Amino acid sequence: MSQAGTEIHLTLNGEDVTFEAARSDTLLDVLRDNSYTGAKRGCDTGDCGFCTVVVDGDPVKSCIRPAAQLDGAEVETIENLGTQDSLDPLQSAFVDNAALQCGFCIPGMIMRSKVLLEENPDPTEAEIREALSENLCRCTGYEKIIDAVQDASSRMADGADVAADGGRLPDEQGCPGCDCHDGGAER
Ligand code: FES
Ligand code: FES
Repeated sequence: MSQAGTEIHLTLNGEDVTFEAARSDTLLDVLRDNSYTGAKRGCDTGDCGFCTVVVDGDPVKSCIRPAAQLDGAEVETIENLGTQDSLDPLQSAFVDNAALQCGFCIPGMIMRSKVLLEENPDPTEAEIREALSENLCRCTGYEKIIDAVQDASSRMADGADVAADGGRLPDEQGCPGCDCHDGGAER
């Protein structure tokens, strides 16, 4: 931040936060300067979609959104989704469909897909392709990404438990409130 700063108040992933920002800072600058590094910096010109986050319910390329315009906005980033041990259904679907290689585009893909599925829980393949058309991927050829979003849609509709990381369901990974990982069999 090289210029005189201003304060930006956001609701970020459900929490009220205040960040210092220069007048020239974009939302991506502010997020990454404050350790929210899930949104990636690819082109930095609004062309790749790697930096996509959700602002007031809409997918936004954060590298071209001036932070100073967002005072009072509600922002959601990939950090608000699942954890390594408890993935969001969209994240699990991307893993289980091998819909990523380097992974650099995936936070943006997932955040844009999240908005799509909130607005249209059962999208057609054409609707998914249209929704993701501004998000580039240099690795996968897109087919598995489309499969993953369709799979996530089915999982969300079913409300089914989601298996990831080798197919183990969360209740197979240990006892609630304890770390024995064997259901107490060794005790
Ligand atoms: S880094 Fe924002 S669109 Fe490419
Ligand atoms: S997985 Fe590498 S850019 Fe999409």
